[in-house]
Amino acid sequence: MTLMNVIYHDPAPRTARLALAFGAGLALPDGPVTVYRPRAGEDFALLDPGRVQMVQGFRPDHDALAQMGWRVGTAPAPAPTALICLPRAKAEGLALIAEAVAQGAQLVLVDGQKTYGVEAVLKALRARVKVAEPVSKAHGKLFWFTPGGADFSDWAAQVATVPDPDLGAFQTLPGVFSADGVDPGSALLARALPESLPERMGDLGAGWGYLAAACLARKGVAEMHLVEAEAQALDLARGNITDARAQFHWADATSCALPVSLGGIVMNPPFHTGRSAQPALGMGFIANAARMLGVRGTLWMVANRHLPYADTLERLFRRVDVLAETPAFRVWQASGPRKTAPTGTRR
Ligand SMILES: C[S@@+](CC[C@H](N)C(=O)[O-])C[C@H]1O[C@@H](n2cnc3c(N)ncnc32)[C@H](O)[C@@H]1O
Repeated sequence: MTLMNVIYHDPAPRTARLALAFGAGLALPDGPVTVYRPRAGEDFALLDPGRVQMVQGFRPDHDALAQMGWRVGTAPAPAPTALICLPRAKAEGLALIAEAVAQGAQLVLVDGQKTYGVEAVLKALRARVKVAEPVSKAHGKLFWFTPGGADFSDWAAQVATVPDPDLGAFQTLPGVFSADGVDPGSALLARALPESLPERMGDLGAGWGYLAAACLARKGVAEMHLVEAEAQALDLARGNITDARAQFHWADATSCALPVSLGGIVMNPPFHTGRSAQPALGMGFIANAARMLGVRGTLWMVANRHLPYADTLERLFRRVDVLAETPAFRVWQASGPRKTAPTGTRR
């Protein structure tokens, strides 16, 4: 896969805090160090690569880190030291701490930006164990603790059930998109889909499977390809959609290619990583949808109304219509992706 669309993160803040902590005498126990949720571009040069095992299920970050030579997997293994790179969702951060403790960590380091709620996690930890004085630098904090016999099992990721009146019940986990309920934009798109769909359908950024399930409930679908970069979300989708027509792809939707061309694609593309808006990400989804569709293919897409996707759709598709709108969302139908002719003029 190409790593062109990977968002590279500023390596400086985490490295600066680790350097301060080591300078202040932090010593790691012998043996493996598991780094949970590191992002592409982050610098872990202060850790011994021979001891580090990274856990990252988001495919673009996973592949970028592996390309740098780090050992990266999607599931943790036992290790005496854990470094948690806090994600944005607090419940997911707490679940990572519980996982590290369950994997036998004797020392747990927690690092995060203030904008990712590191203060709230510190407060929750202090209510339970003795936490070393935090290192504060570059709008973030790094702190560590020894779990001892403390019980963190109540922080473990709790599966939630999201009911849908038409499609049944779905299982979700903290940190995945719309973990607490069906996204209103996705619901609008599902309602706007035609009664009958092309035989070979794709769902780009499929999450835990809502839109794919909505497509499978329509007539005409023989194959449903779910493409999702987040391994945990895709695993949930595998459990939620047991229909034999579904195929699951752990892949970057901005760059992946399927062995077959698709007749239709549905998507509610992501438009931010972390807290910053990245409409280029959604544009990458649209561009790859145009490549994955056959010449007569159709894209059905929902997006927040303020997002600037109209030009990209007009440039890449012959016909673009708005199927539904609310004050917050717009559902597009774009058909006939423009394919660049290799030579000569189309007649
Ligand atoms: C707005 S959510 C939509 C989820 C689901 N389709 C729904 O309607 O509920 C976007 C999804 O895209 C996934 N995603 C983000 N970047 C991705 C990428 N580069 N490739 C594939 N999936 C990605 C996210 O993990 C998330 O599940």
